[in-house]
Amino acid sequence: MNSSPINNRVVEQLEERRRNGLFRSIAPFFIPAPDLMDCSTNSYLGLHANAEVAREAALLTGNQLSGNLASRLIAGTSALYRQLEKEIAEWEKTETALVFTSGYAANLGIIQALCTRSTEVFADRLNHASLYDGIRLSGCRLARYSHCDMADLKKLLHQSTAPEKLIITDTVFSMDGDLAPLCDIGDLARSSGAMVMVDEAHATGMFGGNGSGLVEATGTAGAIDVRMGTLSKAIAGLGGYVATSAALHDYFVNFSRSLIYSTGLPHPVLAHDLAAIRYVRQHPGIGAAVVRSADRMREELVRIGFATGPGTTQIIPCFVRDEQEAIALSSWLKARNIIVPAIRPPTVPKGSSRLRFSWSTLSGDDARETIIAHLQQWRKEHA
Ligand SMILES: Cc1ncc(COP(=O)(O)O)c(C=O)c1O
Repeated sequence: MNSSPINNRVVEQLEERRRNGLFRSIAPFFIPAPDLMDCSTNSYLGLHANAEVAREAALLTGNQLSGNLASRLIAGTSALYRQLEKEIAEWEKTETALVFTSGYAANLGIIQALCTRSTEVFADRLNHASLYDGIRLSGCRLARYSHCDMADLKKLLHQSTAPEKLIITDTVFSMDGDLAPLCDIGDLARSSGAMVMVDEAHATGMFGGNGSGLVEATGTAGAIDVRMGTLSKAIAGLGGYVATSAALHDYFVNFSRSLIYSTGLPHPVLAHDLAAIRYVRQHPGIGAAVVRSADRMREELVRIGFATGPGTTQIIPCFVRDEQEAIALSSWLKARNIIVPAIRPPTVPKGSSRLRFSWSTLSGDDARETIIAHLQQWRKEHA
């Protein structure tokens, strides 16, 4: 690279990351071997490899394999797009649903459209990066409350003089696997005149009688104005959506820049998303079974001496001493055919490096016993 202030900073920042053991790279896509235990997947329900979903998706796709070719506002919307949005709205029991090209694009577009300089956003400190990026893009004011701390949120809401208030929270926190207190958040919003937006990315497909998410499971639909979900995790496809009122739907179509200025999803992706949602709705309780199985894994990790935090979901953090130990243990497990990512700062706060187990339909009793036996071995060797 030639020498310019920007190039020099790029080189310095990369060197610093390497020095601190925080350098990231994109590994080649791996085809799971039959005996490989993949505890890194977001496909919690195994729907990426579900023959029923694949058959239905192929039928819905027909011979339409192309992309959307332009923004939906330019190219128009296919029957499949309309059907997907209709069925998401039925699933979520909301007036409407609107699909964006990813969960990231949905969060950016929703928040950028809703918030102005007159808006103050109250955000849980551990919210996903895409929510914070949307907040930055909108130019609104930001107050971050301590993780799931309702006393802190209440204090900040009362101190605020902003004419518009919006509370934003993940429902299942992506690195800790714990749950937002939605009932309390709803109460605080009501008493302070705030709107509420939730990100259901890791709850979609997993919680609630119909698998639509934590809002359904906690009966808080009346208190939540904007429900965002992704189609890239338990649904194992691609896309993000907002399930909301007809007025907000129209507002996002008119004001969400990530929807307006980006090409729509290709037809086969829409077909997979729709087929997978139909599968989830036809199989109530599949998400709950994975969460129960994850509970047993968490109990075993605690039994052999690992801290796992207060989570109660399919995402299980397994805390280690530092980032070096996280990398070493992740590589050690990989050599034994167990894939568990090491999660380090800046993704998580300093001093909270961990392995992040994603429990799924692919990880059952046998996987649990094998992984626990290996972890006991590691502890013996590295005590
Ligand atoms: C909580 C949360 N929100 C949003 C996203 C972004 O979703 P997508 O991967 O569909 O862009 C993610 C993905 O990691 C996430 O964990």
